[in-house]
Amino acid sequence: MHLTSGPDLMSIDWAALKAEAVRAMGHAYAPYSKFPVGAAALVDDGRIVSGCNVENASYGIGLCAECGLVSALQATGGGRLVAFTCVDGHEELLMPCGRCRQLLYEFGGPELLLETVDGPKPMSEILPYAFGPENLSRGA
Ligand code: THU
Repeated sequence: MHLTSGPDLMSIDWAALKAEAVRAMGHAYAPYSKFPVGAAALVDDGRIVSGCNVENASYGIGLCAECGLVSALQATGGGRLVAFTCVDGHEELLMPCGRCRQLLYEFGGPELLLETVDGPKPMSEILPYAFGPENLSRGA
C-alpha cells in the first residue's frame, strides 16, 4: 500500500470492520470444531471483503475464514488489503493462524494493519522475516 494513494490510515473504521467480521462469522460452517470464525478487511479502494471458516468431513481440508476473505477479494476485483480483523464465536478478537498470515501477506504485504489486543499492528510485526512474492522475483 502506498500511503499517498490508500485510504487515510486515521480513518480506518475498525468498528465497521469488526461488525462485518461478526456478520461473516454468523455464516461459518464449523460443525466439527464448533469454533466459528469471521474475518473482514478493508481494501485500498474502500471496499470491505470478508470470509468465514468452512470445515469439511475430511477434517484436514477445512478452510479458514481468511481463505474465503482472499477469495472474495479476488472475486470482487482484487486490490490490496489495508486493514484486517478477525473474530471468534464470542465476537472476541482472534489472530490469524500461521498459514493465514502468509495468505494475507500475499495481498497486503508488510504494511497491512491487523487488529490485535494491543491495537493495530503492521504485518511486518505479525509475520516477521516473511517470505513473499518479492523473494521469487529476486531469485528468478
Ligand atoms: N480458523 C480460522 O478460520 N482462521 C484462523 O486464523 C484460525 C483458525 C478456523 C479453522 C477451524 O475451522 C477452526 O477455526 C478451529 O481451528
